[in-house]
Amino acid sequence: MIKRQTIERVIYTANVVDVIDEFIHLKKSGANYSALSPFTNEKTPSFIVSPSKNIWKCFSSGKGGGALKFLMEHQRLSLPDAVKYLANKYNIEVEYENDSSKKQEEIDHREKLFHALEFYQILFQENLWNPQLNRRPMEYLKSRGFTDEAIKTFGLGYAIQARQVQYDKASKGGYKFEILEELGLVYYTEAGQTIDRFRDRIMFPVYTATGRPTGFGGRVIDSNTSAPKYINSSESQVYKKSRLLYGMYQARREIISKGLCYLVEGYTDVIKLYQKGIKNVVASAGTALTAEQIRLISNATKNIVLLFDSDSAGMSAALRSIDLILEQGLKVKICALPKGEDPDSFSSKYDREDIENYLTNNAVDFIDFKSINLGIDGTEDPVKKAEIIGEIVQSIAVVPNFIEREFYIKKTSKTFKLEERNLFDALAQQLSRNQRKETRKFTPEPPPLTADKNETEVSKNQDSLVIDVLSNCMKEILEDLVLYSSLEVEFDDIVNESSSSPPTLEKRSYKVYQKIDKIFQTENLKFRDPLDHNLYELLIDFCNKEGGLESQHLNDIGIENPDYTSRLAEIQMKYELHTLGDWSKYKVVVPTIEDGASTKVNDDLLNLQKLLIQGKIRDLESKIKKLDSNSENEAYQSERGTEVLREIVQYNDLKTLISKKLERII
Ligand code: CTP
Ligand code: MN
Repeated sequence: MIKRQTIERVIYTANVVDVIDEFIHLKKSGANYSALSPFTNEKTPSFIVSPSKNIWKCFSSGKGGGALKFLMEHQRLSLPDAVKYLANKYNIEVEYENDSSKKQEEIDHREKLFHALEFYQILFQENLWNPQLNRRPMEYLKSRGFTDEAIKTFGLGYAIQARQVQYDKASKGGYKFEILEELGLVYYTEAGQTIDRFRDRIMFPVYTATGRPTGFGGRVIDSNTSAPKYINSSESQVYKKSRLLYGMYQARREIISKGLCYLVEGYTDVIKLYQKGIKNVVASAGTALTAEQIRLISNATKNIVLLFDSDSAGMSAALRSIDLILEQGLKVKICALPKGEDPDSFSSKYDREDIENYLTNNAVDFIDFKSINLGIDGTEDPVKKAEIIGEIVQSIAVVPNFIEREFYIKKTSKTFKLEERNLFDALAQQLSRNQRKETRKFTPEPPPLTADKNETEVSKNQDSLVIDVLSNCMKEILEDLVLYSSLEVEFDDIVNESSSSPPTLEKRSYKVYQKIDKIFQTENLKFRDPLDHNLYELLIDFCNKEGGLESQHLNDIGIENPDYTSRLAEIQMKYELHTLGDWSKYKVVVPTIEDGASTKVNDDLLNLQKLLIQGKIRDLESKIKKLDSNSENEAYQSERGTEVLREIVQYNDLKTLISKKLERII
C-alpha cells in the first residue's frame, strides 16, 4: 500500500490544469479553463477547471474533483496508479507501507491484467533487442526502415517461436493462466497443453493514453505464410479496440500543439510518419473508425485529416468516416496519397518538408472530396449531379452547429454554382428527414392512460413536491456549510416557538455551522441522498472540532472518501461561476458574492424553517380531520381540537413573520 503521506504530497503538488491539459485541450475562460466534457457527447463546454481551487467539475456528467480524481475517472486508473502517475510527473518518491507481503490475489482484477501486459511487453521488447536471440525480427524492421529510436518509442518487441517459453516465464513471475488467457496471450490446446498465442511475430503494443500497454498487435515476419498478417489481443476488460487509438500516447502532445490529428490505417503508418517528424498521427488499428475513437481525438483537437491510400478500399473507408466525424462536431479533411502509396511507403520516400507540403496542399474538405470521388467532374448528367450534391447535403446535415452548416452550404453553392436558397431548402428537407429518424429511434413509450386521479393520489403528488422543495433547500444549506461554515452571521432566531406567548424573531449571532447544526439537531433533519447525509455529518463533525472548515479539511475529506470529492468540487466551483458568463444554461444558481453571504445564509435557513413550519401545519391539519371523523369522546375531542387549532394559528403567525422577513427589500 502506498503511504498516506505520499498521497497527500501528490495531491498538494499536482496542478490540476497541468495534469488535465495533457489529455484535454483546455481553453482559458476568465479565471478558469473550460472544455467540452470528455465524459459525454456535449456541444457546449461545461467541463470547468479552476486553477485557484485546483479542482475540476464536469457539469454535464456530474463528475468532479482534483487531479487524482481526474486520472481515475478519465484514464480509469486505480488510485495507486493515479498516485504513481502523478508522483512520476512531479518527481515525488512513492513510499509504501511495510506490507509488501500483499499477494497477487489482493490486487484488483484490472490491475492484474495490466501487470501481466506490462510483463509481456517488457519480455517481448527484451526478445527483440537481445543479441543472443533470433536476429531476424530486428533485421526485418531495419530492412523496412524503422529507426532504433522509433522502435523504442513505440515499445516494439518480438514474440519468440517456442510454444511455451514466454508463458513459463510469466508463470514463474506469478501471473496466473486465467489472467493471461483473458488477455488472449495464452490458450489451451486440444491436447491440454498451455501455449503462447503470439509466436514468431513482431509485437506492436497498444498503449493507453497514460502509456500502459493494454494489448498487442502481432505481425508475421515471413509474408509467405498462410497465417493471418496480424493477430490482435482479444477484447478484455482493459482492451476494447473500439475505444483505443494506436499511437495516441506518443502523439497526444503534438496533436494538441499542432491543433491537428492525422488519422491513418495501420501501425506501420503511424510509426513511419512519426519517425519522419510528423508526430501528430494515430490509427484506428484493426477496426473501422468509431464514435468513441473520434471523441478521444476531440479531447485534443477538433481537426482531423484522414490520410488514406488512393485505392478504392482506402477511399470507401474515408467516405464512411466523414459523416461520423462531422456528427461529433469535428472538422475533417481528406488527403489522398499518390497512387500505390500508403503513409508508410510514402513517408519512406520523401523527407519531412516534402511530406508536410504534400499533406497541406492535398488535404481537401469533405465537399471537394465527395464531389471529386463521386465523379462530378466526369458527368454532365443532371440526375447524377443532383445525386452527388444530395450526398454532400447529407453530410452537411449531420453537422451539429448551424453556423458551420451555413458555411458549408455557402461553399457548396460556390463550388457548384448553385443557388444558396435551393441548397438551404435541400438541407432543411434532409434535416427534417434526420429528425424523423431520430424520433423514431428515441420515442419513449407513451405513458399509460389513467382514469382521473383520485384525491389521495393528488395529495401524494403534492407531498412529493413538498419534499423536493425541502430537499433542494437542504442541499443549498449543505453548500452554505461548505462555503461559509466559519462565517459569523446575525441570524433571525425564532423565539418562543410553541410556547403560549406569540413567537417572535430576534437577531442573534452564530457561526454558520453552529446555526445549521442547531436547526438540524432540533428538527432531526436527514438528507434524502445518503451521500449528502454522510457528507453533512462529516462536515459538521469537523466544524465542531475545528470551529469551521478550511480548504485543508475539504482536501482531507476528499482523501478519506473519493466519493465526496466530486460533490465538494461542485460546491466549491459554484463559488467561481460568475467568471464564466452565462451559467443559467447549466441550471446552477450563482451564489451571492462574499459580502452578501450573510444575507444568503440567513435567508436559506429562514426558508428551511418556513418549510418545516408548513409541514407542521399540514400535520396538525390532518390531525384535526382525524379528530372530526372519530367521535368517541366529544369532550376530549373539543379540548384537544382547540389546542391543535391554537397551535396552527401560532405556526401560521410564525410563517407570516418569516415570509415578511424573506420578502424584505435589501
Ligand atoms: N489489421 C488487422 N488484422 C489483419 C490485417 C490488418 O488487425 N489481418 C489491422 C492492423 O492494425 C493494421 C491495419 O489493420 O495495422 C492496417 O492493415 P495493413 O495496411 O494491412 O497493415 P500495416 O500496418 O500497414 O502493415 P504492413 O505495412 O506491415 O503491411
Ligand atoms: Mn502498410
